[in-house]
Amino acid sequence: MMAAFIFSWVYLRRVLSFRNISTCMRFYSGNLISSRNQIKIFGVRKYVSDVNSFTWRTHTCGELRSEHVGQQVTLCGWVQFHRMGKFITLRDGYGVTQLIIPEKSPVGYLMKNLSLESVLKVEGTVVQRPLEEQNKKMATGEIEVEVVTADVLGKSKPNLPFNIRDFQKVKESLRLMYRYLDLRTSNLQKNLRLRSNVTMKMREFLCKHHGFVDIETPTLFRRTPGGAQEFVVPTHSPGKFYSLTQSPQQFKQLLMVGALDRYFQIAHCYRDEGAKADRQPEFTQVDIEMSFTSADRIKSLVEGLLQYSWPKEASNLSTPFPKLTYKEAMEMYGTDKPDTRFDMKIIDVTDIFKNQNIEIFDKVLMNKENSSIKAIVIPKGALHINKSLLEKFEEIGKCLYSLEGLVNIFVKEDLNWKSILCKHVSLELQQKLKKNLELQPHTLVLISAGETRNVLQLLGKLRVECAAYLQSKGLNIWNPKDFNFLWVVDFPLFLPSDEGGLEPAHHPFTAPQEQDTHLVYSNPAAVRSQHYDLVLNGQEIAGGSIRIHSSELQKYVLTDILKEDLTELQHLIEALESGCPPHGGIAIGLDRLMCILSGASSIRDVIAFPKSLDGKDLMSGAPAKISDELKKFYFIQTPPSN
Ligand SMILES: *[C@@H]1O[C@H](CO)[C@@H](O)[C@H](O)[C@H]1NC(C)=O
Ligand SMILES: *[C@@H]1O[C@H](CO)[C@@H](O)[C@H](O)[C@H]1NC(C)=O
Ligand SMILES: *[C@@H]1O[C@H](CO)[C@@H](O)[C@H](O)[C@H]1NC(C)=O
Ligand SMILES: *[C@@H]1O[C@H](CO)[C@@H](O)[C@H](O)[C@H]1NC(C)=O
Ligand SMILES: *[C@@H]1O[C@H](CO)[C@@H](O)[C@H](O)[C@H]1NC(C)=O
Ligand SMILES: *[C@@H]1O[C@H](CO)[C@@H](O)[C@H](O)[C@H]1NC(C)=O
Repeated sequence: MMAAFIFSWVYLRRVLSFRNISTCMRFYSGNLISSRNQIKIFGVRKYVSDVNSFTWRTHTCGELRSEHVGQQVTLCGWVQFHRMGKFITLRDGYGVTQLIIPEKSPVGYLMKNLSLESVLKVEGTVVQRPLEEQNKKMATGEIEVEVVTADVLGKSKPNLPFNIRDFQKVKESLRLMYRYLDLRTSNLQKNLRLRSNVTMKMREFLCKHHGFVDIETPTLFRRTPGGAQEFVVPTHSPGKFYSLTQSPQQFKQLLMVGALDRYFQIAHCYRDEGAKADRQPEFTQVDIEMSFTSADRIKSLVEGLLQYSWPKEASNLSTPFPKLTYKEAMEMYGTDKPDTRFDMKIIDVTDIFKNQNIEIFDKVLMNKENSSIKAIVIPKGALHINKSLLEKFEEIGKCLYSLEGLVNIFVKEDLNWKSILCKHVSLELQQKLKKNLELQPHTLVLISAGETRNVLQLLGKLRVECAAYLQSKGLNIWNPKDFNFLWVVDFPLFLPSDEGGLEPAHHPFTAPQEQDTHLVYSNPAAVRSQHYDLVLNGQEIAGGSIRIHSSELQKYVLTDILKEDLTELQHLIEALESGCPPHGGIAIGLDRLMCILSGASSIRDVIAFPKSLDGKDLMSGAPAKISDELKKFYFIQTPPSN
């Protein structure tokens, strides 16, 4: 089987390198080539993408190798560099190729006056570079193309705002302002092409292999109660507005009622919540919904989907992904999206420090309900984490969680401590801690006491901060090639809201767990939901649930628990009353997934035309003013400026 695979690849490459089908046929006798892009190998049809079809070029700028020497080729691309009218580096989205201009060729004269980034079409012959001039770092470094003719297809003005060099250090605002130039960089080329490859595989998995139906749903809709802040679109009916959908949630449920039982869409969604490093006002989700299914079946579907679409170069995903309950995640990691690439779990040390006459701890345990003392143990932390960083951590504790003290222990080389605790801690207790926390030389221990919820959140945050800091200092806290997926389940259905009532932990359509359904009517705060989150390397990349499909339960949740106005959801309630199948689904945040997969530092690097941090399109200047006539048409008044 393996031999067959290698064999077919060798032939495939050959076929690709000869651009004459009848030539292929000769080399390929025994296998049928039915069309240029479809090759039958041992009875299996293979589609080969031909990036040169329907163009002038014969090859891309990243394609030529020694095996092409002697061939006449046509390349099209941008002038990345040229020197003395003798050499040109031509670049396109696939790579760069060195061109050599023969002496006395008119092309040399043409080049002398041509700005970088102009577009050329070049015809020439592939020649081997002399051994000493071969460039091993360049994919096309073995060859160059001796130019015969060159046409300037599109002149560039001199002195563009920045050079298209790889790994350039151009300010992001400038890159966003001239995004069409930024898109030429190999980084964005790689990210966007990878994104396309992944979504193509996802469509293939869902539609071709599992019979899902790709359905577009509207983005102009009405306000959805109980969700995120939505964008509002004025209309020319006075006082009437559309809202842009924050997700296709209602539509996907209505599709289930409509017997479209396997729906999927790569959906554009909108939230008026400003942009952050991992958030954009408009974003994309891979949206899935199914009837007659269970939470575990949807989890398996997503595992299969990711495994199928994951680039094999990145890693092999092993499934099923591990699971943690919300409660376990909070207790061990202080967050509902734990980064499981490294340990440093939160340890409860309440019993060790209780009744030891340590004033700071006793005070907290006595005065506060539900309080505890917890710690994280940071190997090698004492070597790198200094006083000023610790002060910053203390500040976080005070400001965000009103926790009074963050106590630290620096374990020295000889296992002696440096800590304000030294004075208070008996030798016996020290030994106990050393043993329980497995202290090593240069370990740093951070201990926090207070209300349990706050202690967990603080230590959860510091765990991630310390790990990222140590990673940046060159310690191998995690392997950059690791992709740690994790399901988090058993979330509460409702959380206390700021107004004193309850609010949905996710959205008001999430179903309670069957064994908790009776609690909805008696003790809603204790109900666990059929929601599941998928976490990757400490970031939430997907969330979904089994939905409520009983109109009575949905009405009760909306009116009695959430105090929402039912009129806004009348259509959904009526649909639930019209024969609604049990159903559930998930939405995968495609931007965030691609960001982690491509190792980008921000989701803006995996979106072709992203918004800036303050939600603007720096290239076009959107959002922009509109004329007074238009305002009148839409019944918009601008408040008088003072
Ligand atoms: C393709 O190959 C055949 C057979 O080798 C030859 O007759 C024909 O001229 C070639 N066509 C082109 C376009 O090179
Ligand atoms: C070079 O470009 C300049 C400015 O565009 C122009 O004035 C000049 O005539 C050009 N020279 C040649 C040889 O094309
Ligand atoms: C995308 O897929 C094509 C076709 O399989 C492949 O040639 C290309 O290298 C892939 N691109 C990336 C960035 O993974
Ligand atoms: C994935 O698995 C294949 C086959 O088992 C192996 O050849 C390849 O090296 C693996 N890739 C990675 C990134 O681990
Ligand atoms: C403390 O925990 C108990 C049980 O877990 C809970 O009923 C109570 O409301 C909590 N008190 C506070 C102040 O959070
Ligand atoms: C502590 O570390 C931070 C972060 O690396 C650094 O900016 C700061 O100068 C250091 N402070 C001291 C006192 O060494």
